[in-house]
Amino acid sequence: MKVVIALLVLETVNSLYLVHPRFWNYDKINWTNYTACVNGKAQSPINIVTTTTIPLPKKMHKPEFYNTKTKGPVTVWNSGRTVTINGFEQWPYLTKPYLMDETGKKFLLFRMHLHWLYSESIVGNGSEHSIDDVKHNGEIHLAFRYDDDEMDLGEALESGNVRMVSVFFDVKQRRDHQLFVMTDLDYALTLITKYDDMSEMVQFSVDPILKNVNGGMFIYNGSLTTPNCKEGIRWYVTKVPVAVAQYQMELLKHIKHVDNSRNSRPQQDVNDRIIYNV
Ligand SMILES: *[C@@H]1O[C@H](CO)[C@@H](O)[C@H](O)[C@H]1NC(C)=O
Ligand SMILES: *[C@@H]1O[C@H](CO)[C@@H](O)[C@H](O)[C@H]1NC(C)=O
Ligand SMILES: *[C@@H]1O[C@H](CO)[C@@H](O)[C@H](O)[C@H]1NC(C)=O
Ligand SMILES: *[C@@H]1O[C@H](CO)[C@@H](O)[C@H](O)[C@H]1NC(C)=O
Repeated sequence: MKVVIALLVLETVNSLYLVHPRFWNYDKINWTNYTACVNGKAQSPINIVTTTTIPLPKKMHKPEFYNTKTKGPVTVWNSGRTVTINGFEQWPYLTKPYLMDETGKKFLLFRMHLHWLYSESIVGNGSEHSIDDVKHNGEIHLAFRYDDDEMDLGEALESGNVRMVSVFFDVKQRRDHQLFVMTDLDYALTLITKYDDMSEMVQFSVDPILKNVNGGMFIYNGSLTTPNCKEGIRWYVTKVPVAVAQYQMELLKHIKHVDNSRNSRPQQDVNDRIIYNV
């Protein structure tokens, strides 16, 4: 049973990473084989300079999230580069979390993963994006795809129908349970410390992760932040970080990867891209 699940997950993972995490690392030389990683003009992550952003045009809608309170089963997997949370695709259609974007199109949540700092020190800058050069301790990426069951993930990627939502997190000292957004994940994280480990969770909800999205976001056109750096991904970088407890940062730091490098890509040139401020 476990093997079957592992194969299924690997298959879906491959189709988003496009290049399996085992076959590359964060050394620059490893990225040179992928044209977009080297020559792309709309790459992610970026530093967002707020003075250069423009308000969302009036004819567009404020992006909204729905069904965020739904709880359901997920698998939590140590991919060798990150912790990946899969399984949303099997949730019942009517209660699945989704994003209604600024053009009024509906995108279903299908995956999540995290970036954080790989060092012994607790405070650091493991996030990929930054706002006015301010990085955060970590960053959660939630991947959504266009609501069309005729379109597979590869087609969605090719046709610009994948949306990535970014949520920063920082370690907070206060002993307030409200702050600890990843509590659901704590136990699972202790079970996947080695590369390719996987664990299953019966009840998982993205609600705590998305609780600050009303604090605003930046919208821009970018790419996957791992090889093959596919472009045509629209990013929603939310402004207000969520908090994790220090012990949760420690849990992340105990996750062993293929090697011990960081898991955030250096920032890319913005070039002439428009960044909407919502
Ligand atoms: C690319 O990454 C893989 C996996 O970490 C590593 O084995 C290989 O040596 C790297 N290749 C180069 C050219 O750095
Ligand atoms: C990059 O491409 C070269 C030539 O095709 C190949 O030999 C090498 O293994 C590739 N390296 C990576 C890291 O994929
Ligand atoms: C992280 O922060 C340190 C100290 O401010 C800085 O030297 C380093 O360049 C930063 N790393 C990245 C990847 O931004
Ligand atoms: C992103 O790209 C799409 C498709 O090319 C375009 O319609 C849209 O206006 C772009 N959005 C931004 C924020 O530049």
